[in-house]
Amino acid sequence: MSATAKNTAPMPSDILARKGGEPLVCLTAYTTPFAQLTDPHCDIVLVGDSVGMVHHGLPSTLGVTMEMMIMHGQAVARGLQQAMLVVDMPFGSYEESPEQAYRNAARIMRETGAGAVKLEGGVEMEATIRHLTSRSIPVMAHIGLTPQAINTLGGYKVQGRGDDRSRILADAEAVSRAGAFSVVLEKVPASLGDEITAAIPIPTIGIGASAGCDGQILVIDDMLGLFTAFKPKFAKRYATLGEDADKAIAEYAKEVRARSFPAAEHVFGDDAPESKK
Ligand code: KIV
Repeated sequence: MSATAKNTAPMPSDILARKGGEPLVCLTAYTTPFAQLTDPHCDIVLVGDSVGMVHHGLPSTLGVTMEMMIMHGQAVARGLQQAMLVVDMPFGSYEESPEQAYRNAARIMRETGAGAVKLEGGVEMEATIRHLTSRSIPVMAHIGLTPQAINTLGGYKVQGRGDDRSRILADAEAVSRAGAFSVVLEKVPASLGDEITAAIPIPTIGIGASAGCDGQILVIDDMLGLFTAFKPKFAKRYATLGEDADKAIAEYAKEVRARSFPAAEHVFGDDAPESKK
C-alpha cells in the first residue's frame, strides 16, 4: 500500500463551494504518468472503472474488480500533488447493502489514499450514500447513463428524455439529499443538465450533459485519441495520440527490419567511457 498524503488537494467542502462558480475541471487517469500530466490542470482526477474497457480490453465495466480499482488508484495517487483523487466503486462492490458499500469504500480509501469514492445510482442508492457520508466517506454520485447498468438500461442510450425526465431529476435530488458532494450527469439532454444544475445545491459534473454544468469530465484515453474502439458523441478529441503511436511503432518496425536501428549513436564501442544512461 502506498497512499501518498496530499495536504493541498481540494476537500469535498472546497468542491461544494465551487457550485455556480468557476467550472470544475475533471479527467480520468489510471497510471502514474497520466496522473502527473493531469494533476496541474485538474481539480479532480477520477480513477474510473472505464479502466476496464480502455486498459484491460473488457467489453464493459462489469468485469472490473476491487483489486483493479485499488491497483490503479495507488498508481494515480503516486502521480498527484494537488488534484483531488476520486476512485470508482466497481460493479457488485456496493449495491447489496450500505454495510457492504461501507466496507469496500473504506478499503478503497485506506489502500489508495483517495479523498472520495464514486458510485452509480440515484434514488435506489440514497440510503447507501447517506450511510457512507454520515460515516466520513465522501461520495461523488453518478446518474443518467450509468454504465454498470447497461443490461437493464438497454445499452448506452441517452437517459431522461420525455417521460423519463422526472426519474433523473428525482435521482439528482436523492443523491444531493443523501449528502453526495457532487454528481456526475452522464448522457442526458442538455436542457435536463441545466435544470438539474439549477435545482440541486451540489456541483453537477457533466459528461454528455451540458456546458451549463458546474464542471466537466472526460475519459482521458478518449480525449487524447488513445481509445478508438468507439467514440461517444460527447468525447471530443483534443489529440490523436493513438495515430502518433501507430506511426512511431510502424517506423520502429521498418527500421528494425532494415537494420537501420540501432544506429551508431545507440550502441556501445569497446573502449569509449560508458554513458550513464
Ligand atoms: O468510469 C469512468 O471513467 C466514469 C466517468 C466517465 C465519469 O465514470
